[in-house]
Amino acid sequence: MRMRATAIAHPNLALVKYWGKRDIRLNLPAAGSLSVTLSGLRTQTSVAFIPGQARDAVILNGRAVWGPKLDRIVRFLDHLRRLAGTDLRATVNTENDFPTAAGLASSSSGFAALAAAGAAALGLELTAPELSVLARLGSGSAARSIHGGFVEMLPGVMPDGSDSHAVPVAYENHWDLRCLILLTAKGEKSIGSTEAMNHTASSSPYYRAWVESVPHDLALAREAIRNRDMKTLAVVAERSCLRMHASAAAADPGILFWNGTTIELIHHIRKLRSDGFPVFFTIDAGPHVKVFCSASEMSAVTQSIRSVFSGDIIVARPGPGVYLKDEPERR
Ligand code: DP6
Repeated sequence: MRMRATAIAHPNLALVKYWGKRDIRLNLPAAGSLSVTLSGLRTQTSVAFIPGQARDAVILNGRAVWGPKLDRIVRFLDHLRRLAGTDLRATVNTENDFPTAAGLASSSSGFAALAAAGAAALGLELTAPELSVLARLGSGSAARSIHGGFVEMLPGVMPDGSDSHAVPVAYENHWDLRCLILLTAKGEKSIGSTEAMNHTASSSPYYRAWVESVPHDLALAREAIRNRDMKTLAVVAERSCLRMHASAAAADPGILFWNGTTIELIHHIRKLRSDGFPVFFTIDAGPHVKVFCSASEMSAVTQSIRSVFSGDIIVARPGPGVYLKDEPERR
């Protein structure tokens, strides 16, 4: 057992959203979801299990993590310790090269990297589905960042969650898409996705309808990706995003993630599409707008967005699944 390892993972963005759980303790999603893992943003996490260390220590971007964020990571390390049959405490050092907890899916790359590094450090030889199940225990969306490219999360039916993991739909080079991440605000978001989706599930009269609408969107999105059919994917992805946000807005009290710029950008992207550009938006549990277009249209789309938006833009594209720093990328 080598006791220490470093892994690199990329966040993913859902085109068909995950929003709600069938089991909160095991992070089992109420429905499937479908995402793209993105290069252009990355998390690097080192884990060392150290004999004699009294408690787990976590450093995120050079600063010690405390409180509920630390508790969540300690709970995840407990899963790893249980699997490996050890009670060693760990030091975790993690760096994101993009804003953390701002609705940029940092928990997806964070727990994917932590799962891979932690499992390697403890000598656990896990299959891809097992690694995805493990990552899911940290964060539902992290299960998808185990794989690169276009990825589907299977909700599974087993009460223990052993069949609730991600599977690849298409490799990252299948479709040369670009994703422009338009940062419409600074700082951390006001409510985390876990709390927001649980609140939606327990108080939104639209929640059931939302969950029931997902399988049809998944089937259409899967097919659209296989056929590189931007028109269909645009309709399905925007619909899934708006339905997710509508279910949250109808909770009691309602949750609104958007600011004025978010809404302006939604209108702008829709106008661009009606002008003939193959382009669409998606938005997660925060105010930022993520715009997908083909690589060949990127400069025209960026130019048009710049006429209404002067904030920071991060450019991303389909990227690889999680990998250990000293080992080749997982495909
Ligand atoms: C809006 O995976 O962060 O980004 O499982 O509670 O950790 P937990 O939630 P999380 O939720 C992601 C929500 C989303 C949509 C998505 O990524 O599918």
